[in-house]
Amino acid sequence: MTELASGQARYGVVAPTAAAIEAAAELLRTGELIAFPTETVYGLGADAGNEAAVARIYAAKQRPRFNPLIMHVADIAAAEPLVVLDARARSLAQRFWPGPLTLVLPRRESAPLSLLASAGLDTVAIRAPRNAVAQELLRAAGRPVAAPSANRSGRISPTLAEHVAIELGDQVAMVLDGGCCEIGIESTILDLSGDRPRLLRPGGVPEEQLEAALGPLASPPEESQTAPRAPGLLRRHYAPSRPLRLNATSARDGEAMLGFGPQAATGAITSAAVLNLSQRGDLVEAAANLFAMLRALDQAPGCTGIAVAPIPEHGLGVAINDRLRRAAAPADEWNDDRGPAAPCVLPGIEDDEAP
Ligand code: TXA
Ligand code: MG
Repeated sequence: MTELASGQARYGVVAPTAAAIEAAAELLRTGELIAFPTETVYGLGADAGNEAAVARIYAAKQRPRFNPLIMHVADIAAAEPLVVLDARARSLAQRFWPGPLTLVLPRRESAPLSLLASAGLDTVAIRAPRNAVAQELLRAAGRPVAAPSANRSGRISPTLAEHVAIELGDQVAMVLDGGCCEIGIESTILDLSGDRPRLLRPGGVPEEQLEAALGPLASPPEESQTAPRAPGLLRRHYAPSRPLRLNATSARDGEAMLGFGPQAATGAITSAAVLNLSQRGDLVEAAANLFAMLRALDQAPGCTGIAVAPIPEHGLGVAINDRLRRAAAPADEWNDDRGPAAPCVLPGIEDDEAP
């Protein structure tokens, strides 16, 4: 067990015996990433309540953006503490769970879920997979598991354990081999957070079956027929209410400071509220802290704005900067899924590095 906790154990591709599933659950509980089969595609799973573990998902997938992730639970009872199920959601879950239907629902304030996993949204995408190995794993883990498809960003979703091993083998502590995925395409994503049910992604549950249960669905937002890149960015996305000033080396009067790296604190001693995304300059740690620290500084008493230190534009820094630029842009700019032009310092945002 010490081996597991230290993060050194690497098991490779293993048959899903009861012992292997228990070991995988223990790896999840200690913050490791594991890949597991679902009836749709293989998932790259992390403890959905562990910010650092979730940050490692984005690093492993090399995602340039913090797209929100799907939370996996064993059944409706396990979803209850996380999301608010209205009558529509409850009846769909009763009919289609466990199975390839993801529901986007309002997040409970008390939900023990990583803010990064839902990219700061006040909604959560959630599903109960029916694959037997996934079910056993979720029950053994005893907690929700955040899992995107287990491929590198921009690649095809894996339907065999070998696919995962080739693409992400060096990134995961274990790949549970459940053979070939029964369905082979991702889950259908249905947004029930608004008045009218909206199909965000066609998938394993045919649209007709949903319409038979719900009546006509609202059409998906434009350009997101197959894969909404970051649908949450369209609306209700968390953005600080205070203005963000990017690439700042120090805080000005009244500003809170969000630093990065060992030098950050000294540049900001004049500020009342100072937080550091990662004292040691670790981008994975910075990603894990990003949303929680933005929230905290947005609420810090007596501050009028938030100065943010420069974040290196590599690895997870690319996604962090993407998110920061969106948060810094005026609301009408970040309403657009494409966000403001990148990479740049936004007009009107000064660069403290300038002479
Ligand atoms: O079949 C599947 O759904 C697989 C297996 C592993 O369960 N998972 C999967 O995850 O396809 P991923 O990360 O590749 O796709 C998740 C999709 C993304 O398009 C994301 O934008 C959307 O779900 N999503 C997640 N949370 C959302 C939210 N709160 N609102 C709207 N869309 C959301
Ligand atoms: Mg995917």
